[in-house]
Amino acid sequence: MTITTTTARLEGKVAIITGSGAGLGAECAHVLAAHGARVVVADINFESASETAAAIVAAGGEAMAWRTDVTSEDDIRAMVAAVIARYGRIDVLHNNAAALDTAQRGADRDVCNVAIEAWDRAMNVNVRGAMLCCKHVIPEMLKIGGGSIIHSTSGFGLLGDVTLTAYAASKAALMQLSRSVAAQYGKQGVRSNAIMIGFVINDHAQKSVPQEIKDILLAQHLTPALGHPRQIANVVLFLASDESSFITGDTLAVDGGFTSHSPAMVPLREFFERMGSNKL
Ligand SMILES: NC(=O)c1ccc[n+]([C@@H]2O[C@H](COP(=O)([O-])OP(=O)(O)OC[C@H]3O[C@@H](n4cnc5c(N)ncnc54)[C@H](O)[C@@H]3O)[C@@H](O)[C@H]2O)c1
Repeated sequence: MTITTTTARLEGKVAIITGSGAGLGAECAHVLAAHGARVVVADINFESASETAAAIVAAGGEAMAWRTDVTSEDDIRAMVAAVIARYGRIDVLHNNAAALDTAQRGADRDVCNVAIEAWDRAMNVNVRGAMLCCKHVIPEMLKIGGGSIIHSTSGFGLLGDVTLTAYAASKAALMQLSRSVAAQYGKQGVRSNAIMIGFVINDHAQKSVPQEIKDILLAQHLTPALGHPRQIANVVLFLASDESSFITGDTLAVDGGFTSHSPAMVPLREFFERMGSNKL
């Protein structure tokens, strides 16, 4: 990826992206840096954070890697202090980190069978962590007249489903956290929006999901294919930039239409195909 100044939609801005060592967060880090942002690649996995930051720098961008466990308020406090020491400001916070590894997903099942550790971890990482990042970043945004906060959520946070109980509750809470931030600090220039992401194939968590499940999910997306990380990063770029300055308190579906249609649509489509007509 080459850095060009003509596309520098985030020139002068500093962006923290949690969980950006791998997956969608890493793609967001690359895209925001390619548009002129100085990017803080924050992740519990310092090795992956360092690799992502090094790749951004090698491509001509500006980035720093920082090890942060978002469940630790001390870690977040230290991260904010380090970013201010290095860059002097924080304009963008992307709450992207989530506990999504195979062990977590395996333990986060229906209500009667969810492991309490999995419930606690989902809540601690996915929503408490995001709240702590807001708590410590917003005061820095207020000093410079505002900023943009983006929260990565999921259709699981809106619709009922048969598994991932803790993940779903944490993402619903994150959507509400976003609205609280928008309401509380909007007059002081801080915007807060959630993106409700569909199924996006990446090299990390989604790799281990069985093909049969991917096919089921694809049938419910209205697009020809499941998502690609760049499609998410482009929306994060828009929300991070001043181009979206009149959007706040919203949850944008970036999900290929997954949450936009009737639950009967897929079986109906199959029925009509069998009948050779869609006359009701
Ligand atoms: N990929 C999808 O299909 C999809 C769909 C809906 C929503 N999302 C959301 O998008 C975001 C990114 O998802 P992804 O697929 O890239 O996941 P991923 O598992 O590939 O990446 C998550 C990153 O978060 C980091 N992380 C985990 N715990 C952390 C902690 N305590 N502190 C700091 N960092 C931590 C991991 O090390 C990893 O780098 C998540 O919020 C997820 O819920 C993804």
